[in-house]
Amino acid sequence: MIRSHFAGLLAAGIVAATFAALGQADDPQRGRDIIMQQKLGHAQKVLEGLAIKDFALIEKHADELGVLSKRAEWLVLKTPEYTRHSDDFRRQCETMSRMAKEKNLDGCALAYVQMTMTCVNCHKYVREVRIAQATR
Ligand code: HEC
Repeated sequence: MIRSHFAGLLAAGIVAATFAALGQADDPQRGRDIIMQQKLGHAQKVLEGLAIKDFALIEKHADELGVLSKRAEWLVLKTPEYTRHSDDFRRQCETMSRMAKEKNLDGCALAYVQMTMTCVNCHKYVREVRIAQATR
């Protein structure tokens, strides 16, 4: 009796977990939150690489950032301006990666600063669009 109760609970648990996993995959906002957080993590790793002059670390995380920027979830606003910020960002990641390959620390640092400005500029743009949408 206790055993069958347990089996029932277990089955219910599996069903619930499956639904939770499906819900996750289906929720675009959740997928987006995850990659936005990953973006911050990789950017922090690049900074760490710059600080300790670890070119392999810089290259790895600059490349990861470039890959993230090509994911479908990245494209939150379908406007030419958003695309322009994304293109700037991708180009800066590529430059950072190339500079790391060439073991050019100043080049990496400059590309990092430019990339950081693009983080700020794109967020500024997204905020303006959302405020405009909210007050329409
Ligand atoms: C091309 C535009 C763009 C660029 C460039 C960009 N972001 Fe974002 N970021 C977004 C958008 C859009 C959101 C909000 C997503 C949403 O909530 O719908 C966001 C959200 C975030 C968030 C918040 C996630 C949360 O949990 O609310 C963090 C942190 C973040 N970005 C970090 C960064 C960092 C660090 C960089 C630069 C290395 C960067 N972003 C560059 C578009 C951009």
